[in-house]
Amino acid sequence: MKSAPVFDQAHYATLNESREAVMRPLLDGLKKKLNAETALDVGCGSGYFSGVLHSEGFRVTGLDGRAENAVLAASRYPRVQFFTANLEDDGVRRYGPADVVLCFGLLYHLENPFRALRNLHALTGKVLLVESMCLPSNLPLMELRDECRTADQGLQFVAFYPSEACLAKLMYRAGFSFVYSLRKNPEHPAYRNSLRQKKSRTMLVASRGELNLSQLESVPEPSAKLDPWTTAWDRLGAPLRSLGRLLTKPWPEKVASVRRRLSGSL
Ligand SMILES: C[S@@+](CC[C@H](N)C(=O)[O-])C[C@H]1O[C@@H](n2cnc3c(N)ncnc32)[C@H](O)[C@@H]1O
Repeated sequence: MKSAPVFDQAHYATLNESREAVMRPLLDGLKKKLNAETALDVGCGSGYFSGVLHSEGFRVTGLDGRAENAVLAASRYPRVQFFTANLEDDGVRRYGPADVVLCFGLLYHLENPFRALRNLHALTGKVLLVESMCLPSNLPLMELRDECRTADQGLQFVAFYPSEACLAKLMYRAGFSFVYSLRKNPEHPAYRNSLRQKKSRTMLVASRGELNLSQLESVPEPSAKLDPWTTAWDRLGAPLRSLGRLLTKPWPEKVASVRRRLSGSL
């Protein structure tokens, strides 16, 4: 007997419900504010969000890196056109631009997230909506992780997982002028820190023009200037460091050093 598609597992249903609840009012706002008409769903899987976009009145194209998923999505949403396309390949650009691009659950399944973000920028006429797993760090970091071998994972089953700060920085550096987070994230434990689990998912919106929507708040470009080789000791600051050096010296040198300092300050 053929097993059910991986996208039909119960955990997808709860996640989709919570994501859809915040997406619908946002899509409605974007449609009205920007006269947005066309949409691309990149990494569409079984097409759930292609269906949401279509029911919100968009003309939708769905793309997935796996032909089997594009076929499954087409069987479920016959009013949407689906194609097999790899977001890491520049050839994907032929499917754009669309006013709204949605890329849910894909950016942490890639070998080349920066290339993918540049392709998403090229595909986006107005606004990009991203949902992704994120590493728990305020720094713009990625971690290379092994993935399980199912049809909802990366094409090579090894991928760079980004932090939320990394995603925001990639969006700015790929060419988007404005990046926003949602004031109210989906009502699902994955989108918040708790005693039992760290926040593991996020939603970000990147736009070519400024968006004045009540659901969004601006995210500044995260700085990547912190030196990763500094130790906690370094960060305590120069005065403490020189005190430390002084303490490790033999007594005669300590005395000489203190004398020099005192005479220097006189
Ligand atoms: C976790 S699923 C997300 C499905 C759907 N967007 C959702 O949020 O429920 C990731 C999807 O991205 C597809 N995918 C993986 N790597 C891809 C790539 N390089 N280009 C396009 N799609 C890719 C997978 O085949 C899979 O359908």
